[in-house]
Amino acid sequence: MQVESNFLGLRNPNGSPVGSGAWVNITEKYTKAKRYCTAPFEVLFNGKKKTTHYVVGEWIGEKHPELPGAAPREIDIRCASSTNIDLAPQSLDGVFTDPPYFGMVQYGELMHFCYVWLRKLMGGDFPGLEPTTTRHVDELTGNDTAERTIEHFAEGLAAVYKRMATALKPGAPLLFTYHHNKQEAYQAAAMAILDVGLTCSASLPCPAEMGGSIHIHGTASSIVDTVFVCRDSGATPRAWLFDNAAGLARLMTHELAELRVAGMKPTIGDTRCIAFGLITRMAIWGLRPEWIWSWPTAKKLATIRAAMNALATVDEVCALLQGTKPAAPESCSMLSGIDHRIFTDAVAF
Ligand SMILES: C[S@@+](CC[C@H](N)C(=O)[O-])C[C@H]1O[C@@H](n2cnc3c(N)ncnc32)[C@H](O)[C@@H]1O
Repeated sequence: MQVESNFLGLRNPNGSPVGSGAWVNITEKYTKAKRYCTAPFEVLFNGKKKTTHYVVGEWIGEKHPELPGAAPREIDIRCASSTNIDLAPQSLDGVFTDPPYFGMVQYGELMHFCYVWLRKLMGGDFPGLEPTTTRHVDELTGNDTAERTIEHFAEGLAAVYKRMATALKPGAPLLFTYHHNKQEAYQAAAMAILDVGLTCSASLPCPAEMGGSIHIHGTASSIVDTVFVCRDSGATPRAWLFDNAAGLARLMTHELAELRVAGMKPTIGDTRCIAFGLITRMAIWGLRPEWIWSWPTAKKLATIRAAMNALATVDEVCALLQGTKPAAPESCSMLSGIDHRIFTDAVAF
């Protein structure tokens, strides 16, 4: 398996870039991203047929290049640790984030290679390039060599979410996307949510990493993230609650069928990650009323593991799913339109 690609990149005979991550792809992606900012869209699949739907009136940026009269917007990009961010209380409509997946990618170490060159070119007094290294004690990843443990990760995530939760308006969502093959990584995410007093009102399986990615190539790893939707108050459909492996298998049959309708072929790795996401959501739901945030981190993580295992284990649900036929596509809400009936029977939290 190669470790580094040709940094300038290659093109196919038809002009399209080969692979990803090289200069030719980055410049192309950047152009597409800028185009998306002025005309954002959603993509819908009908079988294999893909259609693009523009979000009329929406745009991303401070100024719209084609709408000089539009009111300017404010964008604030900072190169800093989120553990220290100061935000005004109850000032945010939503938080959308993509935290590190525990120890899966060593961002600081990987970026060091580019950083030394960038700093040499731009100068160490260039804003954001003052540090001599990309290694940082606040980096929220697991790293055996730097002795960053699961406790460091869980406490750091909780510190970030605490700042975000205080800044959210009542009932507003904190959303984050996440996946891992190990249960302990989900325990850390659950601790962060519980410590800040939120609950998880939805966990949505969502195709994420591309199957061809060199991070996961040839490993039966998941390409499905769970999007965790967390709030301090609101309601959740009763149909999404479960308290044993059979209830979880019922929900998962439906969710796997929806992914198949969207053209995915969920692997065993995907199935395990979806199960971990749903078990984490229900463990948070059950633990929240009695949560003791002053417990030591190790005790909190162990309590979450016990609660997750008491609900269902991933092996139990995989065994149950093996014996079932995949759900018929017509039972999926994607084909029949979202079934709003399940939202009329909701449980408040
Ligand atoms: C899963 S990646 C997000 C990738 C991003 N969504 C993208 O498409 O490029 C997690 C990111 O969190 C950053 N990170 C790690 N610790 C952090 C901290 N304390 N504060 C802010 N960001 C941090 C990592 O450097 C990494 O860029």
